[in-house]
Amino acid sequence: MCRGNGMSVVVVVGTQWGDEGKGKIIDLLAERAHIVARYQGGNNAGHTVVIGEEEFILHLIPSGALYPDTISVMGNGMVIDPVVLCEEIDSLKARGIDLEGRLFVSDRAHVVLPCHKILDQVLDEMRGEGRIGTTGRGIGTCYVDKFTRVGIRMADFIEPEVLAEKTEISLREKNAFLNGRCGKEGIDPKRAAEEMLPYSKRMRRYVTDTATLLNKAVARGESILLESAQGALLDVDFGTYPYVTSSNPISGGASVGTGIPPSKIDRVLGVVKAYTTRVGEGPMPTELFGEAAERLRNAGPRGEYGATTGRPRRCGWFDAIVVRYSAMLNGLDYVAITRLDVLDDVPEIPMCVGYKYKGKTYDTFPALLRVAQECEPIYEEMPGWMSPTVDARRFKDLPAAARNYVERLCELVGVPPAIVSVGPRRDQTMVLKEVI
Ligand code: GDP
Ligand code: IMO
Ligand code: MG
Repeated sequence: MCRGNGMSVVVVVGTQWGDEGKGKIIDLLAERAHIVARYQGGNNAGHTVVIGEEEFILHLIPSGALYPDTISVMGNGMVIDPVVLCEEIDSLKARGIDLEGRLFVSDRAHVVLPCHKILDQVLDEMRGEGRIGTTGRGIGTCYVDKFTRVGIRMADFIEPEVLAEKTEISLREKNAFLNGRCGKEGIDPKRAAEEMLPYSKRMRRYVTDTATLLNKAVARGESILLESAQGALLDVDFGTYPYVTSSNPISGGASVGTGIPPSKIDRVLGVVKAYTTRVGEGPMPTELFGEAAERLRNAGPRGEYGATTGRPRRCGWFDAIVVRYSAMLNGLDYVAITRLDVLDDVPEIPMCVGYKYKGKTYDTFPALLRVAQECEPIYEEMPGWMSPTVDARRFKDLPAAARNYVERLCELVGVPPAIVSVGPRRDQTMVLKEVI
């Protein structure tokens, strides 16, 4: 292992609509980190790490966990389904990854319960045409409970009496809704709490005050990676609202979601897919349809299918308006460009450099949904390289047209590249700048 010396707290964020390849990049950087901490979201995320022939899809556990002695922290900003977490711990253990003694779950993180999943699905269905297309994992409904202050935190969850008492209060309003509005049977609070008891017991060994743990590590000068789920355009404040997730994936969320203050964060790295994808509903100005979309969707070893729900991802060309907006909001110092190899056999590659709507030109992302939905992308064309890049290991190994594409992308976004990735494996990576 090669640990960096000197303090380094680096936030790694998704800059588009999620699935940029954060898992791969975090795994790569985690070789030099003492701690990797997730700071928001829950198992709506699916982060893929490929080691040799083996593929791991992590939904809750941070993507640094595959190194044998990296410490994994699940921050207070997360919403955690304990059933899914226990399954993930067990399935990793069965594959030789033992997290005992090195997984720490925040005592202030909120717990996703079966009622959250039921309500998430019922509510999204009730929206009909206006549905968000959530992952149905109870994420939004758990955050609602957090903010209406009937949520159950991990500290509560591991105390059986507190769990029983809080479950009863939390289910009062939910049952009124399920019985009255949906004509569905309510949930028996006693049974609901009892069903959770084995998980409550099991979670006890992991739950701790992670804000203190992390701040002590910062004071010791350890290297820490803060891992976002989702991406800036799914941010509840800055994304394509209401087609967003219910948390703040942008770098500002890392402080709130871990308790590491902004003054202690050194650097922000944005993960950028070389083109654009999105899962679920909502505007996506550069979206392609038909054969053009299929070509992007089915290129690369695994294609563009959701790591969590298996849904086909919507695909389109690179959108510089999206990533420049994201660079501003996140304060990006560097970008890691992923899936460049997917463009290997595209003869002319369009990049979106602006939007046009009713005669007006936009060079930043509009708040109004209608504009984002109906605007017409303004494209600039870059010549393709029409040769495989999967074996490039140094930037200069890339064909000149591929280097030009990367350079133009970075110029449009206004952020220099630190990493260029040309395949899912660890070795399929060019490091231009060490960020940790
Ligand atoms: P995340 O949610 O941001 O971690 O991304 P996902 O894991 O959901 O989706 C990214 C997909 O791209 C995964 O299947 C990765 O294994 C894969 N991947 C990552 N980087 C590259 C790359 O440079 N080239 C190719 N072809 N695949 C990549
Ligand atoms: P990672 O971390 C891509 C999308 C869902 C839906 C919207 C709201 O793997 O990049 P939610 O269940 O969060 O309430 O759904 O957000 N979504 C993601 N899309 N990658 C993700 O995570 C996502 N997590 C949520 O598809 O449109
Ligand atoms: Mg994903």
